[in-house]
Amino acid sequence: MANEPLDTDLMEHLRGARRPVVLTGAGMSAESGVPTFREAQSGLWARFDPVELATPEAFERHPQRVLDWYAWRREQVAKARPHAGHQALARWEAACAALVIVTQNVDGLHQRAGSRNVVELHGRIDRDRCHHCGERAETPARVCAQCGGPLRPDVVWFGEMLPEPALRRALGAVSEADLVLSVGTSTLVQPAASLPAEALAAGVPVVEINPEPTSLKGRTLYRLRGKAAEWLPRLVAIACD
Ligand code: OAD
Repeated sequence: MANEPLDTDLMEHLRGARRPVVLTGAGMSAESGVPTFREAQSGLWARFDPVELATPEAFERHPQRVLDWYAWRREQVAKARPHAGHQALARWEAACAALVIVTQNVDGLHQRAGSRNVVELHGRIDRDRCHHCGERAETPARVCAQCGGPLRPDVVWFGEMLPEPALRRALGAVSEADLVLSVGTSTLVQPAASLPAEALAAGVPVVEINPEPTSLKGRTLYRLRGKAAEWLPRLVAIACD
């Protein structure tokens, strides 16, 4: 619960943080109305088969099926609005310029709330790129101007590499961080899941915000059971005020 008393060490880490990194996953967007992936009832992967929708092979075999599913998800994202947790992180960045958000989300909600220092590990759902040459293109064209290849959402699918510059920035930020928050992620998908684990291995304090338990563990882990939109405004008030 977001009103439970906070550990005094944790409060000091928040107040003293000069280079905080916030890793976010699908649970960060849940209260904005974007479904998560792995939750038992409501998760997308409970209702749809990722192998049929989120792999390069699926797109090569049934491009229209994949594009239709992404069109539906784009509609959900277009309707979503940033919540108090996104706004709190934007405020923290304004007060502490070195804050870096590393997100697995493809919805752009952090930027819509005003955050600027955002590393997007899994791409962006509101952009297209060429499946063959990677050139970015304006939706809703169907083929790429440069090579004539088919356009697809600019997101990372299962079996694909993460964009190298984003991964490098994320690893660099975590290696310099003095506090890491892991918000709304099951920490099951690599390499994003390794980021809080690396911080824990280095003895850096890590705060996990999640209504459910995850497998993250470590001596310097603080677990806050509850929702992002409830916890983040409270933590940022401690860090900034
Ligand atoms: P998951 O769906 O695996 O996990 C979402 C987590 O958010 C779960 O642990 C939930 O308990 C938690 N959660 C739900 N509501 C929350 C709330 N209001 N506040 C805080 N936490 C909440 O999503 P990710 O960990 O982001 O990749 O998944 C990682 C990647 O797997 C995604 O980027 C996507 C997916 O397949 C690709 O599509 C490549």
